[in-house]
This record gives sequence, C-alpha cells and structure tokens, in this order.
Amino acid sequence: MTPPNHFEPPRDAVRSVDLGAEARSANSEHSTVTFVVNGQQHQLELDNRTTLLDTLREHLALTGSKKGCDHGQCGACTVFVNGTRINACLTLAVMHEGDEITTIEGVGHEAHLDPMQAAFVEQDAFQCGYCTPGQICSAKAVLEEIRAGLPSHVTQDLDAPIELTDAEIRERMSGNICRCGAYANILKAINQVAEAHS
Ligand code: FES
Ligand code: FES
Repeated sequence: MTPPNHFEPPRDAVRSVDLGAEARSANSEHSTVTFVVNGQQHQLELDNRTTLLDTLREHLALTGSKKGCDHGQCGACTVFVNGTRINACLTLAVMHEGDEITTIEGVGHEAHLDPMQAAFVEQDAFQCGYCTPGQICSAKAVLEEIRAGLPSHVTQDLDAPIELTDAEIRERMSGNICRCGAYANILKAINQVAEAHS
C-alpha cells in the first residue's frame, strides 16, 4: 500500500530535471582555442564558459588586465582584440579563435614604456592603479578612434574632422571608472600624448 506521505512528481517535473542535467553536461564541455597574445601564440583547452579576462589572468598569468566588476561596467579589463578595445570580461575566450589580443603587458613595460604609460606617470594620473591598465588601453584606443574619424555621442558635426576636445575624450573614456577619482590627470595625460603626436 502507498504510504500517505508518498510523493509522486508530475511527469513534467521529472522531464525538467532531466533537461537540467543535460544542460549542465553540455555546459561543462571544453574546447581548444588558439590565439596570439602579445605576439605569442597560445593553444589552450578551456571550459567553454571561460571569459577572455579569466583566460588571460588565470591561464596565462597576465594579471595586468583587472577584474573590477566582471559585468562590463568599469573598463578595468579593457584589452585590444585585433586592434579594437573590448571589455575582456564580456566575451568568451572560445570566441577568439585566431584573434590577436594585446593586453597592457603588450602595450609596454618598465624598460620600454608606451608614450601613454609614460604620460600617465608624468601626469600622476592614478592613485591605487587598479583601473590604470584599462584606462591606458582605452586612452590609446580613444586617440586612434578620433584619428579614424569614428564619431561619439558628443560629436557635433559628423561631416567634419573630429576635434580633439576634452568633451570628446571624457565621453569616449566614460566606460572606464576610476574609484580614486584620478579623472582630471587622466585627461591631462591623454592630451599630452595627443599634442605630442599632432
Ligand atoms: S571587469 Fe570588465 S568591465 Fe569591469
Ligand atoms: S587609480 Fe584607483 S581606481 Fe583608478
């Protein structure tokens, strides 16, 4: 005889449990991905869910790119993929087969600073430094984007060459948050590099 507290789950509930198990199994699959990071080719076996940021930091020990929010809101993880800046926390490593990735370690180093890195030092454009790698990568990209004529939200005349104003720089750097509030000196550093190359 069936005990009074016996629970017979409805058929749909059993089915959803089985689907959950299938989904977990599919999610745990791994892939091999090959890409170039800072001029060096890497082939990695990765869980499909691994972000590019975690791949750089945890698998390649390139810890210059920082994890601030892990949600695309702070810019601390900014790197270049095929020359374009992206948030490395918002993209999966397996999406970058064959890509060329440049992190802050590939931008420059102590013995050979990139002009933007040198300007950040000269202008005292950081305090704790946590956001700085992302700021520098974005700052370099901003100048390239303006030179290439890519408009921003504050560009007034879409037919004329883009003026390198503080408003343009601020708008284009707005995805990079600095909790130390070093914005004024970051702006000076970017203007310093822009003037040196004008
Ligand atoms: S860690 Fe990627 S945007 Fe914040
Ligand atoms: S220098 Fe500290 S968060 Fe920007």
